[in-house]
Amino acid sequence: MRKARKDTGLFVAEGASLILTARDNGFVPETLVAHKDTAASGVTKDLVDWVLSADKECLEVSQAVLEKLASKDNPQSVLAVFRQRFADPPPIATIEKNATWLALEEVRDPGNLGTIIRTVDAVGADGIILIGNCCDPYQHECVRATMGSIFAVPLVRMTRENFLAWRADWPGDVVGTHLDGREDFRHTNYKTPVLLIMGSEGPGLSDSLTRTATRLVTIPMAGQLDSLNLAVATALTLYQIRGEHLKLSGGQ
Ligand SMILES: C[S@@+](CC[C@H](N)C(=O)[O-])C[C@H]1O[C@@H](n2cnc3c(N)ncnc32)[C@H](O)[C@@H]1O
Repeated sequence: MRKARKDTGLFVAEGASLILTARDNGFVPETLVAHKDTAASGVTKDLVDWVLSADKECLEVSQAVLEKLASKDNPQSVLAVFRQRFADPPPIATIEKNATWLALEEVRDPGNLGTIIRTVDAVGADGIILIGNCCDPYQHECVRATMGSIFAVPLVRMTRENFLAWRADWPGDVVGTHLDGREDFRHTNYKTPVLLIMGSEGPGLSDSLTRTATRLVTIPMAGQLDSLNLAVATALTLYQIRGEHLKLSGGQ
């Protein structure tokens, strides 16, 4: 629950796959909760051994207890409680030439945010700045939508004022995505490092963030619609910006 997440600084991740990704990224749960019938075998036993060796708590519970704790939509036989992590704003002097950071202004939909975190991971971007009053990235719907990338992508929180001050020394392009942009996002020569700013689902990019962009790009649309979904617009733009760094493993 939101209040419990806020008061404790903890959050829940469900399912062995997510917990294994957490382990790969250096997270250790405060508590592991496993169904009593699976705790002694297979991957769940691996997880139990790992958590016990880190001196953390493991609870073997009945089906009834697990059903109370787990989400209703896709119940898993193991879940874990982790400490939330927010990173400090990266000092501008440490930003590498090929870096890409994404800034989201007041993102409201946890499903969108989770999808975006997953996409940032997929394109090898450096992290996400959550500007202003964003939804909680550690709520269940968002964590689930990240498919584990919540453990791999640095998340930074900033007020709009702090973001504008921090961004002042950004050495490359600050790219705003806007329905009234002058540039087609496919024909833009992005000057690296790139700081990409996306607006909120409702009002879009605020005036102050629009003004802070060094260029405003638009994704052309053919139909009668007003705009693309935020997560889709973010994915398209990130793939355009990061394209040259992404290769199939076969080298094509
Ligand atoms: C759902 S849209 C917000 C629409 C809002 N009514 C507006 O006027 O901007 C959320 C964000 O996705 C991005 N976006 C969506 N469609 C876009 C497009 N066709 N071109 C550029 N950015 C777009 C922008 O960053 C926008 O602020």
